[in-house]
Amino acid sequence: MMQVTRRPPLIVDGLTKTYPGGVRAVRGISFEVADGEIFGLLGPNGAGKTTTLGVLTTLVRPSGGRALVAGLDVMNEPLAVRRAMGVVFQDSVLDNDFSGFQNMRLHARLWRVPEDRIAALLDAVGLAGRIGRRARLQRGDETAPGDRPGSARPAADPAPG
Ligand SMILES: Nc1ncnc2c1ncn2[C@@H]1O[C@H](COP(=O)(O)OP(=O)(O)O)[C@@H](O)[C@H]1O
Ligand SMILES: [Mg+2]
Repeated sequence: MMQVTRRPPLIVDGLTKTYPGGVRAVRGISFEVADGEIFGLLGPNGAGKTTTLGVLTTLVRPSGGRALVAGLDVMNEPLAVRRAMGVVFQDSVLDNDFSGFQNMRLHARLWRVPEDRIAALLDAVGLAGRIGRRARLQRGDETAPGDRPGSARPAADPAPG
């Protein structure tokens, strides 16, 4: 008798992406990520990492192959895929002119997270007292280099890539 097993959280099978204009950014990659596994996708610039993550987060339409997140096909069920995952982007997605609380409320509404979780989360990470401050002042440096025009991020931030 067949064993009933949970599907891996992530299945990528023969995935390809050719951008309009003909750049073959992803040329048929396959991998699975098991439950509880920590997975890193490494490669030189231009290898197709961001494109692959774009497909997995439903922001890039694949050209061929399959990608399943929590058993859901990114092509057929993109909204369900988005609900099933959490994403922390490399660059900040905060609105600097909103307070921390306003940012959290915006994302809570977008993701249909009950707003009463905001207070508990802030308490858990010790930020409850700073929640009324604008996001650009939350980065630890009280002089806030990001506050100056033309300096969107602190110099110590790692380079994008
Ligand atoms: N929107 C796009 N349109 C056309 N070509 C793109 C686009 N995004 C990335 N590329 C090209 O696809 C290839 C893979 O890029 P990318 O996925 O960003 O790789 P990585 O994140 O590994 O550096 C590169 O040659 C890049 O120039
Ligand atoms: Mg990249």
